[in-house]
Amino acid sequence: MTTPKKLFIKTYGCQMNVYDSERMAEALGGKGYVETQTPDDADMILLNTCHIREKAAEKVYSELGRYKDLKAEKPDLKIGVAGCVAQAEGEEIIRRQPLVDLVVGPQSYHRLPAMEDAVRTGVKALDTDFPDDDKFETLKSRGKAKRGPTAFLTVQEGCDKFCAFCVVPYTRGAEVSRPADRIIREAQELVDAGVREITLLGQNVNAYHGHPQGLAGLIWELDKIDGLARIRFTTSHPNDMDDALIEAHGTCEKLMPYLHLPVQAGSDRILKAMNRKHTAESYIRLIERIRAARPDLLLSGDFIVGFPGETEADFEDTMNLIREVHYGQAYSFKYSTRPGTPAAEKPQLPDDVMNDRLQRLQALLRQQQTETQQSMVGRDVKVLFEKAGREDGQMIGKSEYLHAVYADAPASVLGTVQPVRIAAASPNSLAGKLQAD
Ligand code: 5AD
Ligand code: SF4
Repeated sequence: MTTPKKLFIKTYGCQMNVYDSERMAEALGGKGYVETQTPDDADMILLNTCHIREKAAEKVYSELGRYKDLKAEKPDLKIGVAGCVAQAEGEEIIRRQPLVDLVVGPQSYHRLPAMEDAVRTGVKALDTDFPDDDKFETLKSRGKAKRGPTAFLTVQEGCDKFCAFCVVPYTRGAEVSRPADRIIREAQELVDAGVREITLLGQNVNAYHGHPQGLAGLIWELDKIDGLARIRFTTSHPNDMDDALIEAHGTCEKLMPYLHLPVQAGSDRILKAMNRKHTAESYIRLIERIRAARPDLLLSGDFIVGFPGETEADFEDTMNLIREVHYGQAYSFKYSTRPGTPAAEKPQLPDDVMNDRLQRLQALLRQQQTETQQSMVGRDVKVLFEKAGREDGQMIGKSEYLHAVYADAPASVLGTVQPVRIAAASPNSLAGKLQAD
């Protein structure tokens, strides 16, 4: 038997990249690769990259530079760049960093095995096409090997929204939905391998149209899978929250009460300049409707501060929207200029103004998150246990609201959903006591 070759994949950015990395590892598994946790003993290093903000892209180049000595010691080592930086910069990566052998975009990674053959002959391989063939059909099925209790499943890719700040419509292309029957088949394979919770992924997941009833239709199909306990989805756009999906939050027991629904800003002037095609008011009314369907829903969001032209009054509108909505969790960013996007043409705000606003915004979001965490003390939640904790006898899982929850429990709880009474809260996790069923 030949010794397996080793593959080290480092993943940056969003959950869709986490899913793609798994699929790339599976594709290269067919060529005799097994994954390793360190670059030091790898025969191939793949960086699955993110281009959403400038810093994310720069990290890739600094990481590549670190492999210089490794490559000098081991000339057979092949280095590849995948993901959105690969898509956006293509050949430029090979020009800027000659250590790179292979560049593959997010829509063509099913061709990795053939590209691997090519780089082994000493040539460089580049593929950033948006091919007509469906990569998911070319990739192998998910395999029978036992998996952990949670998994991601990409159901939709790309974005047609063209928010003025965002590279996604350029790096990931137009919105494409996978057919529902294929997704159901993949979900069944995951459940057969031990998965209990599936998070449906898409850059604009609620614009999913691979089922006649949209994302809600797909969720109700997945609801029928025995052994699947929980369904989640991310990331959504406010304009695609249709009535059926809102209703499913109230009626589908497997759909968890957590929703990531980015608004980005709270000023109508800025929302218009961002090309968001909704107002602060319409977003707030939408949240009211979703909360009417599912009152205990935990809401999460994304915010950008310092978009070109943002005044102090615009920023205050964002703060007021946050106060009105109240988020259990949120992500916030300083505006980052992305070449090729419409906003990149506009004059930028000074960095100190952006830093100051980001700090104030994050303080408010932190306060709301802390309040939300504290409000859980004394409550009973259902925890899907995922792994052992650092302390002896401690197990870690997620509540239905996606809180990390610690509890003393036997290892037999792993992969099961158990009732836990919350006893203490910290900003990023909860601790509780396992209850008798
Ligand atoms: N600058 C800052 N944040 C951005 N995001 C997307 N593009 C940019 C940008 N140019 C943020 C948005 C989006 C999240 C994934 O990243 O908030 O929802
Ligand atoms: Fe980017 Fe806007 Fe599309 Fe989200 S909806 S991926 S922020 S363009």
